[in-house]
Amino acid sequence: MGKVISVSNQKGGVGKTTTTIEFASILSGKGKKVLVIDFDPQGNTSSSLPCDHTKPTIFDVMEAKNTVTEAIQHSEYCDIITSSSDLSKVDALYLDFDAMFILKDITDSIKDDYDFIFIDTTPAKSIKNTMTYIAADYIIAPTEVDKNSMEGIEELNNDLKKLKGGRTSVSNASIALILLTRFTKRAVMYQLALDSLNNIAKTLEGSPEVFCIRNSVASSEAKDFEQPIGVYATKNQVSRDYRKAVDIFLKKIGEN
Ligand SMILES: Nc1ncnc2c1ncn2[C@@H]1O[C@H](COP(=O)(O)OP(=O)(O)OP(=O)(O)O)[C@@H](O)[C@H]1O
Ligand SMILES: [Mg+2]
Repeated sequence: MGKVISVSNQKGGVGKTTTTIEFASILSGKGKKVLVIDFDPQGNTSSSLPCDHTKPTIFDVMEAKNTVTEAIQHSEYCDIITSSSDLSKVDALYLDFDAMFILKDITDSIKDDYDFIFIDTTPAKSIKNTMTYIAADYIIAPTEVDKNSMEGIEELNNDLKKLKGGRTSVSNASIALILLTRFTKRAVMYQLALDSLNNIAKTLEGSPEVFCIRNSVASSEAKDFEQPIGVYATKNQVSRDYRKAVDIFLKKIGEN
């Protein structure tokens, strides 16, 4: 049965979308069957991969307007279910307890068809993110060097603990990996952030591994060509770092 991975940090611009696309395409390249669900109304994953934007979206599936099969698109890098701005309505529409499980019901229904299902998430504390923590087996948490982004991981961990606590645990997810993105080796603040993240990681659900992804302008360029960085610039340092990060992730979850 496939694994569901939520790529999460409640803070913005930390590399969630980039990480989702790189992990999905690298694992696809290893022969794994991979689906990406764009669960962010910004739709950055959908616009960074070759997608048909007239096709049903994840919101259409949630609203039972289309089946999940109708929403799945096939690209050369991975399968994808796109997002749309409609997804921003979720936090106002899906308020009762049972509604929190709708994304899990969708991913459970297709888990047998995939090795990995990645969910790209929105940069805010939200019902949408709670839905991903309930659906996920694992969480990958990218962060930038700033204090605010690193605190986003602790906030995520607190939310996860609440879902796991109480009379009935509603999440099996553990944080498998923290990625410090746009890493610049020579800058002291990155070394300090890395030390701090290694300490924080020991206290988090799942005791995640910590790994650094270096900084490169190829990350932004690749999106304009609707390509993963690993395809656009195979030898780029960011491509190499993501390949290593995937290996670390697979080892952590016992899949290597
Ligand atoms: N390793 C990197 N080096 C340089 N730029 C990067 C790197 N990773 C991501 N970026 C760039 O940083 C910006 C933010 O990255 P990304 O969109 O992946 O973050 P995000 O967490 O998904 O943002 P949001 O919270 O808005 O969804 C993008 O322009 C992306 O191209
Ligand atoms: Mg994003």
